Amino acid sequence: MVANRGESSRIQIDVCYLRPGLYVTDLGVHWAKHPFLKNQFELDAQSILKIRGMELKKVEIDLDRSSPDAVRDLYGPAWVAEEDDSDNAESESEPAHEDTSLTGAKGLGGSAKARPGKVTREARRFVRGMLEGARAGKSIDMKDVNSVTEEIYSSLCTNKNAMLALGRVRSLDGYTYQHSVNVGVLMMAFGRYLEMDHKQVQLLGAAGLLHDIGKAFVPEHILLKPDRLSNEEYKTIKAHPSKGAQLLRGQQGIHPLIVEVAEKHHERVDGTGYPFRLEEKQLRREVMMAAIVDVYDAVTAVRAYHRGKPPAGGLKVIIDGKGTHFNAELAYDFVRCIGVYPVGSLVRTNADQLGIVLECTAHEPSRPMLRVVYDIKRDKKLTSPYILDLGESASKLQVVGYEDPEKWSIKPEKYLGY
Ligand SMILES: [Fe+2]
Ligand SMILES: [Fe+2]
Repeated sequence: MVANRGESSRIQIDVCYLRPGLYVTDLGVHWAKHPFLKNQFELDAQSILKIRGMELKKVEIDLDRSSPDAVRDLYGPAWVAEEDDSDNAESESEPAHEDTSLTGAKGLGGSAKARPGKVTREARRFVRGMLEGARAGKSIDMKDVNSVTEEIYSSLCTNKNAMLALGRVRSLDGYTYQHSVNVGVLMMAFGRYLEMDHKQVQLLGAAGLLHDIGKAFVPEHILLKPDRLSNEEYKTIKAHPSKGAQLLRGQQGIHPLIVEVAEKHHERVDGTGYPFRLEEKQLRREVMMAAIVDVYDAVTAVRAYHRGKPPAGGLKVIIDGKGTHFNAELAYDFVRCIGVYPVGSLVRTNADQLGIVLECTAHEPSRPMLRVVYDIKRDKKLTSPYILDLGESASKLQVVGYEDPEKWSIKPEKYLGY
């Protein structure tokens, strides 16, 4: 049975995820207006059909009073299991994460069709192929790039939270292509937040996917070197924007913005960036957006030699750099786009629970949906983490602040369920 969680064992779920064995505690309608003898009861196949026929959107269930099998089934195997020790959160060769969890795109009310995990994996595979192709002198087909950004676009429309959270779930190798996809996804999310039109957003996505194409010419041992780089090695890395732009200029059908982002994403508004030391007035908006997104992803990445900052720490880096490294207005816009409690953050509630942010809606940014994974009072990691929707809950639970995942030995990306 699921551990006793008192008040918080009650959660609201979409009626499409009802299943036999779950215990309903509130249908959200007066007893005279529903066909059941009791207000609280265990679901069977027939009662589920009746509830769906009532056109209710959500009902309250009590996890503690539900059958363990139904709860396990509801949450899916991906995170009911205890954390494993593997750092390989993603395998490129095995589509093992496909549809393993109801708590991802489907379970949180997104579209089953959008499959953010699959879209991300395919985009990573595509960018890896493109980087390898660039090294071998193969040309870039913008039609292929556009079909990848189109897939990302539809996934962002239906499940932005999952797409952003997936950026934190990455294997320890292949940093450049994973980073390139993340920058593409984040650029598109940022463009949508700024209400740019579909064509512009797609262009931003393509610019993101291709921004580090020049790294195809930097040897892996330099890119992944955990120690301090020598002057010579640093010079090699710093040449990637120019090399990338040169490569892109030599291709057919590449939009000038894509070339500009590749060439100038390391420029800083105070003129301290490279390669040209340009200042704010010389940088177009899309390039300054790329500079923000690029740094945010780089500092939050799990890399060969460090785990990266949690999302909130990444946002702090952006805000700290406003006016010096980044355009100030865009820096604040980006923070708003990612949210007060970014998906994947570890937060503490006033009931001393630790939870991973799964979803943060624009209308209630300070009341995210969490996956509760730790009970501080009992100093115990939960064997069956559960969902707590602070936006829907009638209880007085609220987030009181961020926590450092490392302090609690928690890997938030393991609990995202995508
Ligand atoms: Fe770069
Ligand atoms: Fe980059």
